[in-house]
Amino acid sequence: MCGIVGYVGKNAAVQVLIDGLKRLEYRGYDSAGLAILDKGVFSVLKKTGRVVNVEKLARKSKSPGTIGISHTRWATHGGVTDNNAHPHISSDGKIALVHNGVIENFLPLKHFLEGHGFTFSSETDTEVLSNLIAYHYKTLGGYNGNRVIESVRQSLMQVEGTYGIAVLCTDYPDQIIGARKSSPLILGVGQGEYILASDVTAFALRTQNVVFLRDDEIVCINRDEFSITTMEDNRVHASIETVDWAPDAVELGDYKHFMEKEIFEQPQSIENAMRGRFSQDSSTSHFGGLTLTPQELRHIDRILFCGCGSAWHSCLVAEHLIERFARIPVEVEYASEFRYRNAPLDKHTLVFIVSQSGETLDSLAALQESKRKGYPTLAITNVVGSTIARESDGGIYQRSGPEIGVASTKAFTAQLTILSMLALYLGRLRDMSYEDGIRFVEALKMLPQQVAQILNQAEYIQAIAHKYAHHRDFLFLGRQSLFPIALEGALKLKEVSYIHAEGYPAAEMKHGPIALISPECPSVFLATQKSIIKKTLSNIQEVKARGGPVIAVTTEECHFPKNLADDLIVIPHCHEALKPVLATVPLQLFAYYTSLARNCDVDKPRNLAKSVTVE
Ligand code: G6P
Repeated sequence: MCGIVGYVGKNAAVQVLIDGLKRLEYRGYDSAGLAILDKGVFSVLKKTGRVVNVEKLARKSKSPGTIGISHTRWATHGGVTDNNAHPHISSDGKIALVHNGVIENFLPLKHFLEGHGFTFSSETDTEVLSNLIAYHYKTLGGYNGNRVIESVRQSLMQVEGTYGIAVLCTDYPDQIIGARKSSPLILGVGQGEYILASDVTAFALRTQNVVFLRDDEIVCINRDEFSITTMEDNRVHASIETVDWAPDAVELGDYKHFMEKEIFEQPQSIENAMRGRFSQDSSTSHFGGLTLTPQELRHIDRILFCGCGSAWHSCLVAEHLIERFARIPVEVEYASEFRYRNAPLDKHTLVFIVSQSGETLDSLAALQESKRKGYPTLAITNVVGSTIARESDGGIYQRSGPEIGVASTKAFTAQLTILSMLALYLGRLRDMSYEDGIRFVEALKMLPQQVAQILNQAEYIQAIAHKYAHHRDFLFLGRQSLFPIALEGALKLKEVSYIHAEGYPAAEMKHGPIALISPECPSVFLATQKSIIKKTLSNIQEVKARGGPVIAVTTEECHFPKNLADDLIVIPHCHEALKPVLATVPLQLFAYYTSLARNCDVDKPRNLAKSVTVE
């Protein structure tokens, strides 16, 4: 949550900071602000609402300064006000700070600083840190080295919590100090310029050369160079890596919204997830990053998957597929629950963390807890170089490209694709036959074109969405591996259109949710499994008998009776285990078009943030 950008170079900083913030708005968007340091003086602009509000102020101020820091906020401590927006300037005017994270011990620090004459004008934990840095800066009066770095270091040693920060000091007009702990911070190395940001997308159009900073590292950038030290003041020799995201991947192109763009990119992103990952004889898959040998994997007795949000739903699908193909017992936990539950795990357990961003704090904490207990811990992530990717023992990259819409779409179907391939790989290490492997690989290879066929029905699904957009409650119902897709469909709808929606196993409906059924509460049924279609049809009859409107997603081989559903979406026939991938796509389109029909901000839904780096 929250996005930060810092720039030092030859160009006017304002536009670089604003452009960067716009690309980070997915991380939070309730207020924004920036500070430019010019001739030893800060000029600060802050405003509630979107980055565009600060951009308007910046156009008037026309600051020529070439160094500055900026922030887009997702409020934690203190309401959404101009005063609480970042940057926060220390009360002696020396330090400006932007911060992503939470300073948990801010209260005792605040009392301490008040006792030393510092004053506060906001309710934030961040202002405490800017005053704390100013306090140390003052007490380090005769210090011989770089006084700002040292005061940042001393302050961070007192702080409990998480942070990604960028700091300016009026006495050092050419330098920005950055540091991180459990919140992301990346250094972009440009031509005669450096950019600090929470995410590569903030500067992808300026440079693709990056240094992924690690926890407890402090970076100092000026116009000519950068240096990194540890909290113990040891020099770090950082390597500059190149990210291979095409710069235009962060642009909207011909699309109106990122959610739309990312839904329509799925034939490609699914293809990318599979590319080069099938064996030569096309009977199994393989992944370069799985650091366990086939022999080690054969000794695994149990797999635990952890994730949050949509990633958790993809884990639930994995449970079905891996148990079916490989007969390995699988458990799925919310990362936020696992980290505090102290669950007893079998000693031959393998842990997988699934996270698009690779930065979700709860997922990172689950990974750290699993590693602390000594379990081999692998990750499925999209963002290359993200903290979870780096801290895991190995894993699989999704290769979805940047996902900017807050509601996950292409990253989710890429996760499903990879998890299906993982189930195949583990299955083939055990009892799955060569022929079954060949059949499944063939089915996987069909996915991109089948997704494209569903996308061709976009206008039809838009019309359905318009018909139901005025409703306030929805049920999403599916069984077995389609139950997680019912959860995902409900999550997508509530995220982007603010309609109350619940996902349920279809047969569980009669144990409670059926009480909601009325002409005012439509049900979306995932009726795609031939083996249990009769049961699903009975559930639909139960809803119809109570006057509930029904939208059904089905496949041709299910022979869905004419006129039973009010609206029917037919998806291509595919392997049973891949139905979760295909059934997701119409639900994404349905949520997207419902959001548009209700005039919601589809890419930046209220109260949400894409990368949740607080507990
Ligand atoms: C947020 C996003 C969701 C996402 C979840 C987990 O809640 O809005 O779309 O599924 O975080 O994110 P991750 O990056 O760990 O997959």
